[in-house]
Amino acid sequence: MSKPLLSIVDLKTHFRDSRTGADIRACDGVTLDINAGEIVGLVGESGCGKSTLGRTIVGLERARSGQIRFRGEEVLALRGSRGAATRRKIQYIFQDPLSSLSPRQTIGEAIDEALVINGEGNRSARRARIAELLEAVSLPAQLTDRYPREMSGGQRQRVCIARALAADPDVLVCDEPVSSLDVSIRAQIMNLFLKLRDDLGMACLLIAHDLAIVRLAAQRVYVMYLGKIMEQGTSAELYGHPAHPYTQALLSAVPLTNPVQELARRRILLSGDVPSPMNPPSGCRFRSRCPVAQPLCETFPPAAALSASHVAHCHFAGECDLASIKANAFSAPHLVHVQG
Ligand SMILES: Nc1ncnc2c1ncn2[C@@H]1O[C@H](COP(=O)(O)OP(=O)(O)O)[C@@H](O)[C@H]1O
Ligand SMILES: [Mg+2]
Repeated sequence: MSKPLLSIVDLKTHFRDSRTGADIRACDGVTLDINAGEIVGLVGESGCGKSTLGRTIVGLERARSGQIRFRGEEVLALRGSRGAATRRKIQYIFQDPLSSLSPRQTIGEAIDEALVINGEGNRSARRARIAELLEAVSLPAQLTDRYPREMSGGQRQRVCIARALAADPDVLVCDEPVSSLDVSIRAQIMNLFLKLRDDLGMACLLIAHDLAIVRLAAQRVYVMYLGKIMEQGTSAELYGHPAHPYTQALLSAVPLTNPVQELARRRILLSGDVPSPMNPPSGCRFRSRCPVAQPLCETFPPAAALSASHVAHCHFAGECDLASIKANAFSAPHLVHVQG
């Protein structure tokens, strides 16, 4: 098998709590691969460290340790113009397109500026490229003279994607790229990522708390909880046969399109709050909320391979099916409630 385009190895990014000085272990040993031309999903509840991981990959946060290998080069070790040139090949798409565009720049000016930064000195070449980039994101060329406020949210996000493409990247790290948009246009933006993959061979790390959105585009998905990856697999494996209790709980909250299945859907409600990343549980991070936790879970779970592509970090990977557990089957207060 060919080497991944981007390999994240045991990456840690911690913050310091300004009040107590304690370490906030936002991203705490994440290993993740993205192949060329692949859309990879990264899902998990708010606060689990998805943005921190994405921002560290593109250099917006500083890694404490670990590796980011891109095309065989160790990105964290690269300095100066070489480092900047490599970093430009990995572009970041922000959640809110309005705040990531300048209100005083037209769309054409914003993309033009990105082309200049990327070293394109020739004005007429840039003009031609702007038209190409707008076409790549399915926006009409007449929009070049518009200001961000004169566009819809979906159009603005397309502009942000066009501006990122100006750097001729190999990977887009998209942090909740549709969560600020109308539900009706979310799928259109997801289709755009599929089009960019098919037309340009663009790889994407698609970060979202919404599992249904990720399912529309991602070939493989990683599930994150409290700074760590809990499970990874192809979309078919992860959505069809989730092996980690946390993934099963997350998925049980996703409405199903088939009405018969939707009526039978049982929602697994996890009790308790996500623990603080300043003081995560020892062993399995999920054990304080896991309905099937055992004393063994106080030790760190090894990676259990269910197939060549499907891995769950759980001592009981694939052995439990929370959805089949009967409501009120447990008496302990922290255990699962299944809504039928
Ligand atoms: N700059 C920062 N300083 C301190 N804590 C931060 C900072 N950025 C994120 N965090 C904390 O790190 C954890 C992970 O945050 P984040 O990566 O934004 O999660 P997600 O994107 O999954 O919602 C949270 O507990 C958050 O409060
Ligand atoms: Mg986030």
